[in-house]
Amino acid sequence: YPLKHPHNMEWSFSGPLGTYDRAQLQRGLKVYKEVCSACHSMDLVAFRTLTDLGYSEDQVKTFAADYEIEAGPDNDGNMYMRPGIPSDYFPAPFENAEQAAASNNGAAPPDLSLMAKARGITRGFPTFVFDMFTQYQEGGPDYIYSLLTGYEEPPEGVEVPAGGHYNPYFANAAALAMAPPLSDGIVTYEDGSPETLDQYAKDISAFLMWTAEPKLEARKQTGLTVMVFLVILTVLVYLTKKSIYARKP
Ligand code: HEM
Repeated sequence: YPLKHPHNMEWSFSGPLGTYDRAQLQRGLKVYKEVCSACHSMDLVAFRTLTDLGYSEDQVKTFAADYEIEAGPDNDGNMYMRPGIPSDYFPAPFENAEQAAASNNGAAPPDLSLMAKARGITRGFPTFVFDMFTQYQEGGPDYIYSLLTGYEEPPEGVEVPAGGHYNPYFANAAALAMAPPLSDGIVTYEDGSPETLDQYAKDISAFLMWTAEPKLEARKQTGLTVMVFLVILTVLVYLTKKSIYARKP
């Protein structure tokens, strides 16, 4: 079957000076909450980190309180629940992997916390040095966007197994167990952004890049500072060398 290469997208976080677009991350969170979280967990993301998206601590408290968190068995051994607090993590939609698989034709929906990095492209030395200036680092969000917008009719001669959905961007097989989760109009945006499949897919991909790499901005800024420092240091070392060591007479 013809596997397609993910689209090369323009992201606000591309390049050595890239930063996240807070409004986009907030929209992506809404898409996760209203659509993806029905099946996918996000075990590594704590509510408290949502202040990174520009929310105040009070807003985060309200957001967390919307979730029911398992608070352990009471004296009779029955599980009881309490409202979420900022230090909780996003609760998973299923009890365990077996239950998740059983409700999805045998394929458990994977955790999305690190998906954008897991599906990214890693290249060894020396290429990764240049990847700082190219879009190679965005392989993960490119892939997620392409997957979400890439469902199509299977071409002649390609057999799609029962419960499978043909998608030429899916890396493992011709079809995957996830039905197209997004379509125009299913999530309402308050900031006037287009309520289209394309926009949803971009926003959730950017959001998943943030969950996978919340410190991306700090890393890029530090990296740049280090590079500038090294250039200055090189010049100083060169000048020092010249002033200390005389040329042969
Ligand atoms: C797999 C994203 C919604 C069920 C995946 C994968 C991604 C993803 C990135 C991994 C593909 C890979 O392994 O390369 C999303 C996003 C969603 C969403 C961003 C929301 C916009 C849903 C929903 C369901 C679902 C609502 C259930 C009704 C699954 C299943 C798999 C999967 C069962 C495993 C597919 C397989 O391995 O065959 N999803 N998903 N997803 N998703 Fe979703």
